[in-house]
Amino acid sequence: MIIKTKKELEGMKAAGKAVAITLKKMVDFAQIGMTTKEIDDYGKSVLDSFGAHSAPYRDYKFPGTSCISINNEVCHGIPSDKTILKNGDLVNIDVSAELHGFYGDNGCSFILGDDIHGHQKLVRASLEILHECMDAISTGVRIAMVGGTMEKGAKTRGFTTIRNICGHGIGYRLHEDPREVPCFRDRWNREKLKKNTVIALETFISTKAKFVHEAKDGWTLKTKDKSFVAQHEHTLVVTDDYPIILTEENGIAELFQSF
Ligand code: CO
Ligand code: CO
Repeated sequence: MIIKTKKELEGMKAAGKAVAITLKKMVDFAQIGMTTKEIDDYGKSVLDSFGAHSAPYRDYKFPGTSCISINNEVCHGIPSDKTILKNGDLVNIDVSAELHGFYGDNGCSFILGDDIHGHQKLVRASLEILHECMDAISTGVRIAMVGGTMEKGAKTRGFTTIRNICGHGIGYRLHEDPREVPCFRDRWNREKLKKNTVIALETFISTKAKFVHEAKDGWTLKTKDKSFVAQHEHTLVVTDDYPIILTEENGIAELFQSF
């Protein structure tokens, strides 16, 4: 969406706030020994309290409210009463929803409990790189440049970015133009970010992999080599200056400062 009216800006702000608060509450709610289904059900109750509807369920018939992906699962993980969270798990929760016709999307990787598997460096890198990309975004910037910033940020930290999943435009639908905001410098992409465009900017930073593959369940995306991936995502509005972050209330920034 390119925001043209005050009503669109207010609508997008409200949707962004709903998914941000839901994500934050779900991250706070997650405990060792819980199932991912319990966390998802809780998230649904928070979205319900805003009158918001799960975007993946509504737009894609995803079998859950939010995507919850554990360890080698990268994204689109299906909440399950068989998946029990353990100490040290790398958890990703991605909440996207529709509210009064407008969509918001945000996600966060974090370590549950103690970092016994040493995921901290990866999670920190993903958070830092998201902020580096936001610093680089303003009117007229090439989408390929944003991907280049992400790729460079990963490389300097000894990591890779995933090439076959990406950020996207958002607004009246979960996925809109620009269809792809890739996590690498796609030199064929000449498109520039226009003022007031709303995008869901997401990092996919990996310890080694460059591609993800669909699991047998038809939804979950995993790396083939069992390498790990961290993702952080904000919905934001492109301006002549620093972007307006519509999902600021998810608390990712505080997480960033607490390291
Ligand atoms: Co998302
Ligand atoms: Co997204």
